[in-house]
Amino acid sequence: MGTTDSSDGAPPLTLPLTRVPPSPRARGEGRGEGRREPLAVYIHWPFCRSKCPYCDFNSHVRARVDTARWRRALVADLEHEAALAPEREVVSVFFGGGTPSLMPPETAAALLERVRALWPVSPSLEVTLEANPNSAEAERFRAFAAAGVNRLSLGVQSLDPAGLRLLGRAHDRDEAVTAIARARAVFPRFSFDLIYARPGQTVALWRRELDEALSLAGEHLSLYQLTIEPGTAFARLAARGALAVPDEDEAALLYETTQERLTAAGLPAYEISNHARPGAECRHNLAYWRYEDYVGIGPGAHGRLTRAGVKHAAERYRAPEQWLKAVEETGAGVTARTALDRDTTVAEMLMMGLRLGEGIARRRLEQAAGHSLEALFGTRLDALVEGGFLEIDAERIAATAAGRQRLNAVLAALLPS
Ligand SMILES: C[S@@+](CC[C@H](N)C(=O)[O-])C[C@H]1O[C@@H](n2cnc3c(N)ncnc32)[C@H](O)[C@@H]1O
Ligand code: SF4
Repeated sequence: MGTTDSSDGAPPLTLPLTRVPPSPRARGEGRGEGRREPLAVYIHWPFCRSKCPYCDFNSHVRARVDTARWRRALVADLEHEAALAPEREVVSVFFGGGTPSLMPPETAAALLERVRALWPVSPSLEVTLEANPNSAEAERFRAFAAAGVNRLSLGVQSLDPAGLRLLGRAHDRDEAVTAIARARAVFPRFSFDLIYARPGQTVALWRRELDEALSLAGEHLSLYQLTIEPGTAFARLAARGALAVPDEDEAALLYETTQERLTAAGLPAYEISNHARPGAECRHNLAYWRYEDYVGIGPGAHGRLTRAGVKHAAERYRAPEQWLKAVEETGAGVTARTALDRDTTVAEMLMMGLRLGEGIARRRLEQAAGHSLEALFGTRLDALVEGGFLEIDAERIAATAAGRQRLNAVLAALLPS
């Protein structure tokens, strides 16, 4: 794998395949006279029932969580960010984790009430909650809907009992199927996540699991290739040869199977790992990938906010207890706010936007760079276009399907360090 035809007889550009991990957490641009700038709000709940062996998200297991204290701190952190981002219209709120379905629904209600008091919100506000399919959590879906959540993202991970055991999940297959049915009954929009390219998974087995997933799915599915993240239990197992994941070629076949099957079912990929019926894309994640503005609340949450025409990055304490202490002592969990220079802004816009099928509006990229695409990248662009990895027209620059499959290599070719 990894080669493409070259039309002019020159040696084809070869780029290695890469596993692109789930997108990091979320970005604004002028919308014309009289319109408020859109803003997305990310709220992090860092606690889980148990730690999954593949996961390197900011997620922690605690015997007890003082939920009243956490609610006060999250509200304070939110109010602090709101003071820096006035005159916006909130288009999306995303409760991510960790496992935010473990949060009391009253906490979600209190935070949503504060969002509405602090900003005008879009009439089509999307409010997503990430949930695990454990039965105890599924019983609370109605309470979350009553709190204002209108989109559920369920971490199913596998519909195969052996797959769930391998991934060390705290739920079984029946709980997953029941939680999907309940999500469909309770929320106007829902999605679920699966992880593929698991040890021992063949194309035939994955195809069967995908077919079942499609029979249960609504209008959105997130399908991630298993990534062995440094520092996880899976990384330790893999280092001593006790975990054999599919090799590059096998993983590429599984990826291609996924694309074919989902496109045929009317849920094409709008991003490397995210599939939706057109119009059912996740508004919040689109804000990250389109490099629009967002604020991040809670431990480890990142923000990107345009102030006086310059994109600013905000970072927060990652350890839950450190973040909590900082909010209680100073009113916010922020560790750093940095004005991003031009090169960093362009690099981030590319890293995010080339994940999307729609790519990046050429005008926005050129505006951020202060140069034309040709002046910015020179002949590096030609090689990537001729190799079949990038497409460029008067409006947009986008990675092709082959380019998205090797995105790290495309970015390395565009942005030599
Ligand atoms: C914040 S996580 C989990 C949300 C929720 N706590 C859960 O586990 O269902 C979001 C998604 O990232 C995916 N994910 C996490 N770690 C991964 C990894 N190492 N490789 C592939 N996908 C991963 C999983 O599909 C997961 O549902
Ligand atoms: S995958 Fe989800 S449930 Fe598992 S540790 Fe990570 S955030 Fe928690």
